[in-house]
Amino acid sequence: RERTFVMVKPDGVKRGLIGEIVSRFEERGLKLVAGKFIEIPRDLAEEHYGEHEDKPFFEGLVDFITSGPVFAMVWEGGDATRQVRHMVGETDPAESPAGTIRGDLGLDLGRNVIHASDHEDPGSNEREIELFFDEAELIDYERPDEALLYE
Ligand code: GTP
Ligand code: MG
Repeated sequence: RERTFVMVKPDGVKRGLIGEIVSRFEERGLKLVAGKFIEIPRDLAEEHYGEHEDKPFFEGLVDFITSGPVFAMVWEGGDATRQVRHMVGETDPAESPAGTIRGDLGLDLGRNVIHASDHEDPGSNEREIELFFDEAELIDYERPDEALLYE
């Protein structure tokens, strides 16, 4: 099983979409192992999006992600990082098929509701989990339906 980092961005929180988004992952069979509702300090936002620091949209991205509360989570499951990214859709909601989170719930590239670790950037999941959570905040428990979810 793999763990991956997900967060509902300030637009998703303010639009009341936390429950909808959490439900999609729960219903898929992924297991929630950590979650917290926080305002991201600017230095943490800059580190989290460090790969984009030379891009023209970097300042605006950091302004936005620090503009209100986010709901940060860790989800666990088989191939979780890739599975979650498929559920999230493309970076631009306009390119995201219906049925994906961004395709169903977003309209604009800069207000795309959710962040998820990138399966094309190996190690980004572990790096982001460590950035946002202490080891003690990651909770180990059984979901009884795990026996039915995996061959
Ligand atoms: P995250 O899950 O937020 O990391 O999105 P992503 O992995 O799908 O995209 P990426 O990491 O490439 O970009 C991070 C965020 O920057 C995106 O979610 C967008 O909100 C924003 N972004 C990316 N490209 C552009 C762009 O060309 N213009 C603007 N304004 N924003 C962008
Ligand atoms: Mg990204």
